[in-house]
Amino acid sequence: MKDIFVLLWLLPCVIYGAHLPEPRQGRAATVDEVANLAEQLYAADVNKAVSSDINLNLQYKASSAQTSSGTDFSSQNLFSYVNEAKLFARPTFARFIALLDNYIKTTGTVESVPAAEITEQNAFIDEIFKTSVLSILSNFLVSTGYYTSSASFKADLKEMWFGLYTRTKGPLDSSGFEHIFHGEIHSGKISGFHSWVQFYLQEKAGQINYLSYSADGAWTSYPDVYGFQFKWNTYLKTLGSMFIGSSPEFEIAVLSLCYITRPDSLCTVRIGGQTLKIQTYTWANSTYGSGKRYVASGYPVV
Ligand SMILES: *[C@@H]1O[C@H](CO)[C@@H](O)[C@H](O)[C@H]1NC(C)=O
Repeated sequence: MKDIFVLLWLLPCVIYGAHLPEPRQGRAATVDEVANLAEQLYAADVNKAVSSDINLNLQYKASSAQTSSGTDFSSQNLFSYVNEAKLFARPTFARFIALLDNYIKTTGTVESVPAAEITEQNAFIDEIFKTSVLSILSNFLVSTGYYTSSASFKADLKEMWFGLYTRTKGPLDSSGFEHIFHGEIHSGKISGFHSWVQFYLQEKAGQINYLSYSADGAWTSYPDVYGFQFKWNTYLKTLGSMFIGSSPEFEIAVLSLCYITRPDSLCTVRIGGQTLKIQTYTWANSTYGSGKRYVASGYPVV
């Protein structure tokens, strides 16, 4: 009889518990664990570019006084060569590139998400979860208690990156993915835009005018980290920092690592023996699940 009461008491808890949103706080990962994990993600990234895959034509280095001037100090394109046939044929790059035409760059217009775009989002996420980069991250987040399973991490990753919110107090016009990887025009300026693949494709399409660079990271192979000044149509970015030559899965993984373990702060990572800081921001104005925040921004600090 007593056992039945215990069972009756437990049953609703078990059923209800199964529907409770996953807590994002695990045992706090230490500074060393996060830095080392990034190094493992880097080592596992078989899809990153090698030196001969990309030629950058950096041209003019702007001083800090010059970065906000909007002056075109560089007459030529930033990218003089990208081995598209090799890199963009890789499944994670191909799935990533398929997502880039899904967005309206100017904020204030609702992002409609037809079924075909959901399919593309799922295909991208499924593809990156086949890589060892995402397995390593997933194992780490489960073993440190941030998630209870790889499946719950995968489901949450989709929400945090692709879930829509409004940057203009109304229309669902933005997401972490759009902001960081596609870029937006907000309040008359370029906002976000931290993807080298998007930069390259937009420059090739004549939509970007490269002005100058102001930072060149310590790396001698890819991925490297740079700070650029550029215009997207007439809109200016006075300091756009980005990885160059990284794979989409590496960027998603390292940004998610920092977003989940060091939200709204500077996160120290190690990549190829060099230390790098990554800043992430959570979107504070709306939530999903029970109080979880969408990705607002994230980028390497230069
Ligand atoms: C977000 O919230 C802050 C603080 O309440 C508010 O000042 C800001 O206007 C909000 N932004 C949007 C886009 O809703």
